Amino acid sequence: MMVSMLGSVVVYGYLAAHAFAATVPIGHSGNLTVAFFSNEQGDSCDINATTHRLALTTRTIPNSYTCFNVADIFSQSNTTGFTNATQHVYNTEEPNGIFWRLESEGNYDSQTNYSRVWYEQYAPGNIQVGENASWVVYFYAFPDCQQLDPAKADADPDLNPWFEDSCQTEPGGQCRTTPYSVKSFAINSAEDYNKGHGGCETWAYQGSSGASSFGQPSRTISFILGGLAIFTTTW
Ligand SMILES: *[C@@H]1O[C@H](CO)[C@@H](O)[C@H](O)[C@H]1NC(C)=O
Ligand SMILES: *[C@@H]1O[C@H](CO)[C@@H](O)[C@H](O)[C@H]1NC(C)=O
Ligand SMILES: *[C@@H]1O[C@H](CO)[C@@H](O)[C@H](O)[C@H]1NC(C)=O
Ligand SMILES: *[C@@H]1O[C@H](CO)[C@@H](O)[C@H](O)[C@H]1NC(C)=O
Ligand SMILES: *[C@@H]1O[C@H](CO)[C@@H](O)[C@H](O)[C@H]1NC(C)=O
Ligand SMILES: *[C@@H]1O[C@H](CO)[C@@H](O)[C@H](O)[C@H]1NC(C)=O
Repeated sequence: MMVSMLGSVVVYGYLAAHAFAATVPIGHSGNLTVAFFSNEQGDSCDINATTHRLALTTRTIPNSYTCFNVADIFSQSNTTGFTNATQHVYNTEEPNGIFWRLESEGNYDSQTNYSRVWYEQYAPGNIQVGENASWVVYFYAFPDCQQLDPAKADADPDLNPWFEDSCQTEPGGQCRTTPYSVKSFAINSAEDYNKGHGGCETWAYQGSSGASSFGQPSRTISFILGGLAIFTTTW
């Protein structure tokens, strides 16, 4: 009891310390912002539009992979909060996860095709577009950051590739299109990722024909991640 109360105090203390100044316009703070738009808006991502926009900003660099379901995060009403990392790691600073700020104005719509993705990440004072960023971001076609269709045993990964980015963007961000409505996304520190990849990756296509950076069939990775998720929830 004592311990869990103390835990809450620590979490809320962190939350207060990480609170964003309300005056910083979204996407212009030098932190990571990801935003989703309807495919009906053409090939653009109007980050300044306040209608039909779902946006999450963070300054936290987590110590492990942290997954978000688009439907869950953007349909709740808090505008700031904390999401625990999906992967539990030992001997890490707690809480480990992402403090976020949302600008979605209750716009989430389950019928919308969120195939327009916008993200911005750069190092203020040392902007090097295309070089190592602080975060790696993953975008998926399925909930819970699953790489393959959980309903199909023989799913073709190329039908629903996932995308990864760990390079700095221009200030002003980068707009992309996915061939599906994004159902989930994940954020992690880019440090190990960039080391493992010999540098950062820009919008890396990951399917069976794009899995070179893993050197493994993607299903294996899915299985490992799935296993870890189960492990952490039962722990
Ligand atoms: C996030 O933005 C704040 C305010 O601009 C800045 O102090 C902080 O260093 C940024 N964090 C990162 C990781 O860029
Ligand atoms: C969005 O607004 C910012 C100022 O907050 C401005 O610098 C930027 O150019 C605008 N972007 C677009 C695409 O209009
Ligand atoms: C908002 O945040 C509070 C405190 O973290 C939490 O108890 C509550 O469940 C959140 N509300 C929603 C709708 O998620
Ligand atoms: C995060 O995890 C900690 C430790 O497992 C738990 O006490 C806390 O309630 C979790 N917070 C949220 C927002 O899920
Ligand atoms: C969602 O939009 C993308 C990109 O425009 C398109 O390729 C995909 O077929 C659309 N999905 C559905 C279910 O309409
Ligand atoms: C980017 O990260 C890789 C891997 O850690 C490193 O080898 C490389 O020197 C870094 N690039 C820059 C410009 O710092």
